[in-house]
Amino acid sequence: MLNRWQDFAEHEGGGQPLDIAAEMYQLTLCIVGKTLFNIDLRDGASDFEQAFLRVNRLYAEYFYAPFPPLNVPIPRNRRLQAAIRSLNEVVDTIINERRRQNRDKGDLLSMLLMARDEETGQGMNEQQVHDEVMTMLMAGHETVATSLTWTLYLLSQHPDVEQRFHVELDEVLGGNMPTVEHIAKLSYTQMVFEEALRLYPPAWLFGRKAIADDEIRGYHIPANSMIFISPYCTHRHPAFWESPEVFDPERFSPERSVNRPSFAYFPFAGGPRLCIGNIFAMMEAKLVLATIAQRYRLRLLPGHPVEYEAMLNLRPRHGMLMTLQHKSSTP
Ligand code: HEM
Repeated sequence: MLNRWQDFAEHEGGGQPLDIAAEMYQLTLCIVGKTLFNIDLRDGASDFEQAFLRVNRLYAEYFYAPFPPLNVPIPRNRRLQAAIRSLNEVVDTIINERRRQNRDKGDLLSMLLMARDEETGQGMNEQQVHDEVMTMLMAGHETVATSLTWTLYLLSQHPDVEQRFHVELDEVLGGNMPTVEHIAKLSYTQMVFEEALRLYPPAWLFGRKAIADDEIRGYHIPANSMIFISPYCTHRHPAFWESPEVFDPERFSPERSVNRPSFAYFPFAGGPRLCIGNIFAMMEAKLVLATIAQRYRLRLLPGHPVEYEAMLNLRPRHGMLMTLQHKSSTP
């Protein structure tokens, strides 16, 4: 990806703009494909992404106006079903190909295919394997892509933070590409990413269903009702955060985090359904940010509108057009 970016960086007149949001979607989809399923999604990444985006948009529309139900064949529902079919085809191709090879590749897909229930000894049926793979592809890429996009945007808007980030990279990496050994040492990079997740939590809203009648601070919660919880609101709540709208990675330093209630910050949810990929995501984000920054500084294209769109994830509504500068040619 960085080699391909070279053409954009060297464009006459100082860099041709690139939609960093689209770049991050494709990158994170390829990463999840390679790391979990040992497949190269590079060629199909943009088709998958288009179908994924359609599903995302149509689901979000349905979520805000859930009528008529999804099984009524109105145009919106037909479009949604068609987009879901495209996603299903990608997932089926991945699974069928592996079944055909009939080999243990030591990755998540092989683990899913070989998993046996401890009590019954049974494996997963077709639908279960399909759903697991789909969940991982869906949950494992867009969240990371949007948070990386917001982080790169925030860095471009805060030169002092960007400068410190580069100082850490120079100290820890000394000009080399980051590897897994460097991850623990990139503590400021981690704070930058955590702060971006605070301001722009990809999963900005999620729900829980009450299994019984309950009461929360005087509010009666009837059994079976849906309760929505928003990290976006809590992350910007002045009761928990000083100057909540300000981008300030230092608030995640150990000293300043010590007295914060644990659920003032929950970009990965919490409890038994905590995001299963949270450590993976943190590691991936630090490596990607450090790798990009070893070669380029990104600048928002002047005049590009930055707004968010609250779909299943908090996406940049107009993408993120940025120009690239070689790191060596910038102060
Ligand atoms: C910055 C990146 C990420 C964020 C902000 C994020 C956020 C979340 C949140 C909030 C949930 C809980 C949703 C709910 O309970 O309704 C969740 C669940 C989940 N996430 Fe992530 N996630 C991220 C990255 C990943 C990655 C990289 C993977 C896989 C490699 C992943 C896989 C999953 C799965 C499988 C679940 C469902 C877990 C369950 O229900 O037991 N996530 N994620």
